[in-house]
Amino acid sequence: MVCGRNNKSYLKSQNLKIIGQNTLRGKVKISGAKNSALVLLAASLLTKEKIILDNVPLLTDIEKMGNILKNLGVKLQKKDHQVIIDSKNLSIQELPFELVNGLRASFFCIGALLARFGEASIPLPGGCNIGERPINEHINGLRALGAEIIIEREVVKATLVEKKSKLFGANIRLNCPSVGATETLIMAASLAEGRTVIENAAREPEIQDLCQMLNKMGAKIYDAGKEKIIIDGVQNLHGCSHKVIPDRIEAGTFLIAAAATSSSITISPVIPIHLEAVLKKLEESGSKVFIKGNSISINGKSINAVKIKTAPFPGFPTDLQAPFMALMTIAKGRSMISEKIFENRMNHVALLNKMGASIVVNNNIAHINGVKKLKGTDLIGTDLRSSAALVIAALVSENVSNVYGLEHLDRGYEEFEYKLSKLGVNIKREFKNGLFNNKKDSLENELEVNIEAA
Ligand code: EPZ
Repeated sequence: MVCGRNNKSYLKSQNLKIIGQNTLRGKVKISGAKNSALVLLAASLLTKEKIILDNVPLLTDIEKMGNILKNLGVKLQKKDHQVIIDSKNLSIQELPFELVNGLRASFFCIGALLARFGEASIPLPGGCNIGERPINEHINGLRALGAEIIIEREVVKATLVEKKSKLFGANIRLNCPSVGATETLIMAASLAEGRTVIENAAREPEIQDLCQMLNKMGAKIYDAGKEKIIIDGVQNLHGCSHKVIPDRIEAGTFLIAAAATSSSITISPVIPIHLEAVLKKLEESGSKVFIKGNSISINGKSINAVKIKTAPFPGFPTDLQAPFMALMTIAKGRSMISEKIFENRMNHVALLNKMGASIVVNNNIAHINGVKKLKGTDLIGTDLRSSAALVIAALVSENVSNVYGLEHLDRGYEEFEYKLSKLGVNIKREFKNGLFNNKKDSLENELEVNIEAA
């Protein structure tokens, strides 16, 4: 799978050139959910039979996960947005660090590999730009299911307790409703002996999508999407076909872009209930929202300051905190955004301030004084959702912006600039070899200074 339209992207030498003061109009097609497709690919390891996944987004993260599965001996057939996974000849071996580095979702394979083979070795996923990203909830839950786990030289080695041939069901209470831990434990428990109950489980739509596919494969999972999930282990799981749900975070990003540019657009397909908290805040801030089946239309009007606290689903999603902050930079009044999920998810603040925003961060709470306008400039994304926030800010800015760091953006937004240009945005991807590196280096130095100031 390649990312973007018909070209293998050499992401580090590219930038998006955006002419500001845009109005969006028309319809945009929402792709399959990155955070669902990744875990569904991991779940395909649970069966020897074929899994046919449709609506898989063309993203670099998906490409990375595909390479990880291929490294384990899985056969992948890809055709447009369809992936056929055949893990009949799966060979258990330690995943090389360079393959899993930078893709946290690769760690979610541990539950499936342990359930199928009784052993798994996966490098520690490590932290990233938004936080330390611990895995204690995954480890504690797998131990409760009967796994022996040691961490040696940055590799997590899991095996079954001596003489046991399978994992066995257990009552597990998560300390925090971790999405990844819930997914890991559901996959592990699906082939365990007996019943597993996961309390304080994450309720995200991507977990519901995973359970829907696992139940199609013959699993017995009840109450997915609730705080308490029940899994009755089965002997084995068979193949199935499954369509990935629409990406609620991509959908929210486009809605926020429309609100910020006082535009009217329609997005589909979406599952409106997945966006309830976001739609509520968009309406509170002055946009008009219309839901019709699997499409949502928004009419961006005034932009009033609102207060937001990110929370596990069905609360306001942390993945839309940065894009929504871009909207609040030009709101009337003083808004407040509290990031309650990740400890370092304010990387966009320094650059939004560089564009003329007025944001002060204190204890992971951003206090934003709305300004009349932003000015375009050279920008560098440092994580996926911060990069989306910078693009939104560039759309409303007075002049030209160049957004660098596209290796982040291309992880989670399929054909982002193509979709924006179809909505009327004056945007294009530029390929600058040599010159780019100097520009990015000087930007990074400048940013270092900014971050200290913010
Ligand atoms: C998933 O990450 C998503 N990634 C993230 O999306 C998303 O932001 C996050 O869930 C929260 O919704 C994928 O699904 C691939 P968590 P995950 O475990 O599972 C703490 C994006 O932009 N925690 O729910 O890693 C952790 O520190 C990405 O698309 C523990 O303490 O998130 C964090 O504070 C970014 N111990 C909180 O839970 C653990 O063992 C939420 O993390 C695990 C997590």
